[in-house]
Amino acid sequence: MLSPQENRCRETKDLGGLWGFRLDPDDQGEELGWQSGFSEERLIAVPSSWNDQFQDLRNYFRSVWYQTCFHSPRGWQGERVWLRFGSANYWADVWVNGTKAGAHEGGHLPFEFDVTELLCSGKENCLVVRVSGRLSLETVPWGMVPDPDVPRSAEQYPDINFDFFPYCGLQRQVVLHTTPQEAIREIITRTTLKESRAVLHVSVQADIPEGARVRCTLDSQDEAGVVAEEDATVTDDGSFDCQLAVPRARLWCPTDPHLYELRVRILDDDRTVDEYHLSVGLRTIAVQGDQLLLNGRPIFLTGFGKHEDFPVVGRALCLPVTVKDFGLLKWVGANSFRTAHYPHSEEVLQMADREGVMVIGETPAVALFFGRGSAQRLAVCRKQLRELIARDKNHPSVIMWSVANEPDSDVPEAVPFLKELADLAHGLDTTRPATFTSHKGCADEAIRYFDVMSLNRYRAWYDYPAQIDLACRLLSDEMEAMHRKFGKPFILTETGADTVSGLHADPPELFSEEFQVEMIRCYLETVLSKPFAVGTHVWTFADFKTAQAYRRVGGINRKGVFTRDRQPKMAAHMLRRLWRGERTEDKGGDE
Ligand code: GCU
Repeated sequence: MLSPQENRCRETKDLGGLWGFRLDPDDQGEELGWQSGFSEERLIAVPSSWNDQFQDLRNYFRSVWYQTCFHSPRGWQGERVWLRFGSANYWADVWVNGTKAGAHEGGHLPFEFDVTELLCSGKENCLVVRVSGRLSLETVPWGMVPDPDVPRSAEQYPDINFDFFPYCGLQRQVVLHTTPQEAIREIITRTTLKESRAVLHVSVQADIPEGARVRCTLDSQDEAGVVAEEDATVTDDGSFDCQLAVPRARLWCPTDPHLYELRVRILDDDRTVDEYHLSVGLRTIAVQGDQLLLNGRPIFLTGFGKHEDFPVVGRALCLPVTVKDFGLLKWVGANSFRTAHYPHSEEVLQMADREGVMVIGETPAVALFFGRGSAQRLAVCRKQLRELIARDKNHPSVIMWSVANEPDSDVPEAVPFLKELADLAHGLDTTRPATFTSHKGCADEAIRYFDVMSLNRYRAWYDYPAQIDLACRLLSDEMEAMHRKFGKPFILTETGADTVSGLHADPPELFSEEFQVEMIRCYLETVLSKPFAVGTHVWTFADFKTAQAYRRVGGINRKGVFTRDRQPKMAAHMLRRLWRGERTEDKGGDE
C-alpha cells in the first residue's frame, strides 16, 4: 500500500484537528441515523486516543462516533479521491455524506477507501466514523473475555491479557489524497549486492493500458545525482519490472543511512500521467549460520522493545515525542528497536530510515493462546501480517518481522498456527528473516520454523527475585541448550526490572535504580559471551501506561530506562557507556 504523496500529479489534504464526538455505549447510533451526522456531545483531537483526553473515558472501550466536514478542492475534478486512515483501534466503520464507504478491523495499520463517487463538489462533505475498542476471543490482540476457562496471565483492569493499556481511537492521521485515473498502485523494491555493486529490483503495479511507457529513475541525492534510469513498457496486467544497477552504491547502514530517491513515472509521450517518489535504502539483511548479516557483514543489535505511549495523547501519533525518542536512541547508543507489540506509525519508520535505526516490525499478536477461538485469531493474524508487510516492505530500516509476542508456544496446537505465520511471512517477503518472541525457551515447539531465536527472560524479577547471578547462570545454560536444540542465532528481546525513578538502595534492591542497572548489565554481559548472540534488546525504552494491577504502581509499567516523560534513569547512563563506550558523567551526558 503506497502512502499518500504530494507531487505534480497527486495531492493530499490532512483532515486532522478538532472533530465532533459522542458515545454510543449501546450501539444505537446507526439505527438513529448518526451516519448522516449527529448532535455532538464534545470535541476531540484527531489524531489521539480518547482514553486520556476525558476523565470519564479512561476505561471506556465501547463505541464512539466521530464527525468532521470538509470541502474537496475544485481542482480534484476528474481525479480519484481516497480517504485514508493511518489506523483506528480497534473497529472502524466509515460513512461519507451518509453513504457507507467501508469498514476495517485491527488497530495499528492503515486502510483507505475510494470516495470519488461519494463526494459533493462545491459544498461541504460530512465524514462520520464509528470506532469501537471492543476486544474478544476473536480479535488480535484478544481480551475482555469474562470466561473463567480462558487463560489469564494476571488479574488486571481493564480485563486484558497483555501488558499495555488498550488505548482506542483515531490514533494516526486521517487524510484525503488523490491519484490520476491512470495511476501507479503498488511498488515493491528489493536489493541484491555483488561486492559494492547494488541492483535495485523494482516491481510496479499500475492501472494503465498495456503498452504505456514507464520510466524508473534512481537519484542518489548527493553529488552523484541520477545514478540509474530505465524505461519499461507495461504488460497486459498493468505490471512491469526494472533493474537499476548502481556500480558504487552507498549501502544503507546505521553509520551511513543513505537514502536514494526512486522516481517512477508513467509517460504519455512527454506528458507525465502519474509519478511516485519513494525513498529507498540499498541494503541486504540475511541470517547465515549463527550470524545476522547486514550487507554481508555481521551486525549486533543493541536497543529496546519499545511502545508508542505518552501522557494525554495515549498511543497516538505525536511527532515531538517521535523526534525526542530517536534523539534518545542515538544518545544511549541503540541501533535498533522492536515495535512492541503492534506496528508503529509510518512516521516512526520514515525516521528510522533517515536515522539509520534498524527495526523489528511486530504484529499485534500478543499473548496468543491456542484454545477456543484459535481459528478466528489465526485468520486475523494472517490479515494483520499481510497488512504489516504491505505497508512496511520498502523501508530499509525494517530488517525482520516478528509475528507474535510470547504466544503459548510450548503446546502442540501452537505449531501449525505459528508455522503458518512463518510460511506467510517468508512467502510475502523473501528479503527479510522472521521471528517471534518466545518465553518458553527449550520447551518452545515453534522456533524451529523461524530464522532467529528471540527470547524474553525476567529471572531475578518475576522469579528468583533479586538473585541476579543465579538468573544469569540459568540464562547462560538456557541459551546454550536452545542453540543445541534449534541451531539459530539468538536475540534477547526482553529483560528488565520495574524501577521507581529516584529510588536508590545500596546494596541494590528490587525497584531501585541500582537494581535495574545490575540486572540489565548482568543479562547483557551473559548474552554477549555467546558467539551465536546477535542482539540484546532491553525491556523497555520508557515507562508506559498499562492496566491497573497490584504489580503496577499507578497503572504504569516502570521497566523503562527512561521515565514516561523521557528522563534518563541510571540504567540509561550505564547502557550509554556500554553501547557507546562513552562516559556521561564527565561530559554531562548531554551532547
Ligand atoms: C513480557 C511482555 C511485555 C511486558 C513485560 C513485563 O515479556 O512481552 O509486554 O511488558 O513482560 O512484564 O514488563
